[in-house]
Amino acid sequence: MGYGNNKLSIIGLGYVGLPLAAEFAKNGVNTVGIDVDDSKIKKINKGESYISDISTEDLSAVVTKGTLTATTDISAVKDTDSIIICVPTPVTVHKTPDVSFIQSVVDGIAPYLRKGHLVILRSTTYPGSTREFIVPKMEAAGIEIGTDGHVAFAPERVNPGSEKYNFKNTPIVLGGVTKKCTEEASNLLLMVTNDVIKVSSPEVAEMAKLLENIFRSVNIAMINEMAMLCDRIGGIDIWEVVRAASTKPFGFMKFNPGPGIGGHCIQIDPYYLSWKAKEYNFYSDFIEQAAKTNENMPRYVADMTIQALSMSSTPLPNCKVLIIGVAYKPDIDDLRNSPGIHVWEALLEKGVNSIEYSDPFVPAFKEGALESKSLDLNEDMLKEYECVVIITDHSTIDWQMVFDNSKFIVDTRNASERVNTGASKYYSLGGGQLGKNGTYRK
Ligand SMILES: NC(=O)c1ccc[n+]([C@@H]2O[C@H](COP(=O)([O-])OP(=O)(O)OC[C@H]3O[C@@H](n4cnc5c(N)ncnc54)[C@H](O)[C@@H]3O)[C@@H](O)[C@H]2O)c1
Repeated sequence: MGYGNNKLSIIGLGYVGLPLAAEFAKNGVNTVGIDVDDSKIKKINKGESYISDISTEDLSAVVTKGTLTATTDISAVKDTDSIIICVPTPVTVHKTPDVSFIQSVVDGIAPYLRKGHLVILRSTTYPGSTREFIVPKMEAAGIEIGTDGHVAFAPERVNPGSEKYNFKNTPIVLGGVTKKCTEEASNLLLMVTNDVIKVSSPEVAEMAKLLENIFRSVNIAMINEMAMLCDRIGGIDIWEVVRAASTKPFGFMKFNPGPGIGGHCIQIDPYYLSWKAKEYNFYSDFIEQAAKTNENMPRYVADMTIQALSMSSTPLPNCKVLIIGVAYKPDIDDLRNSPGIHVWEALLEKGVNSIEYSDPFVPAFKEGALESKSLDLNEDMLKEYECVVIITDHSTIDWQMVFDNSKFIVDTRNASERVNTGASKYYSLGGGQLGKNGTYRK
């Protein structure tokens, strides 16, 4: 009998853990979700979802059926055969890996580890983590890895909010400490996915996950740099350039510029590798340079906004700015590392005092010192702002109304291309309209 037929615990019920727990439960695996956050546990046990990728309807179905239960009690792992760890892996303020969540989970489960346990780490982390954190605890419990207990790394790859890609059609990369570990973990994971890509070690799987995200970070940085160059040269629109280059049927992959990278992955994961590299006296210039360029984008957008405001007759401290979109990408409610918040902070630093926002997916937020409530967009309210800054292009927003009624727009998502711009005044990020000395070129 494989692990797939037995009981499973999933530790960390956030964006990654909750949908995964529900998916296993939906496929008939008796699943216990474990989280330190009591409010999440209460919601799950009432069948209420707090993650947009899993509907309350689907969650309550598995809770009612009894295949998914949730608890804050980590000792629940002792009654389960497999354990999947999905806790956060952020970076510190100095951009070094913060693996304290993994450490705390591993310390928590250590007293309950026993022969027969399969432990899979799913949190993104630097190569060597699975062997470093989990294997010693298993061995200390008298478990011989690959014989009477199993350990593997299988990173999460699902793209939040995507309707096209889900557990079934996104292959899971998997590396076990031994071949048997990989086999056992694969049997479990095949309950939720069609395809498992087996690699030779946890380190290969850990590095593969980082490669995927660093690939995105570097390419986004490169296109952001080209967007800023287009603005500097003037008269060349990066969006048209990208469209033209994208017609090449081979050897090119399309990336769009933007106001910065948000979310829990692309902005953070590369630092896990650059930190690890330094242990080997290796300095990863690509990773650091990409991070520098991408992290500078919100300030660049704030500068574009200041340039737009400088053309208004209203003095800067009295100018009103509206940010459209604080979620870090379209059609989701996640505002972790949101460029919208970073642009907001940069504008405050530059003396813009009156900033509000509209985001149909984020009705209210509190991030550090910032706290605000979303405003509904309409023709009259748009006219009140000296500048409207488009950060997230949610599909539900009426862009024609935005362009028809705003005094000036800073468009970081090429929304202008989806409307009849008529007499609207706007800067498109990389649109080549930023003239010398603050003049506006259309
Ligand atoms: N969100 C994504 O899109 C995504 C995609 C791929 C990979 N990842 C990776 O997956 C991991 C989890 O990310 P996430 O987005 O789900 O994070 P999250 O913050 O949404 O959820 C993590 C959960 O872990 C819980 N937790 C923290 N410490 C705990 C502990 N000691 N015991 C039990 N629960 C604990 C938190 O309360 C929270 O509910 C990270 O390593 C991340 O890099 C995330």
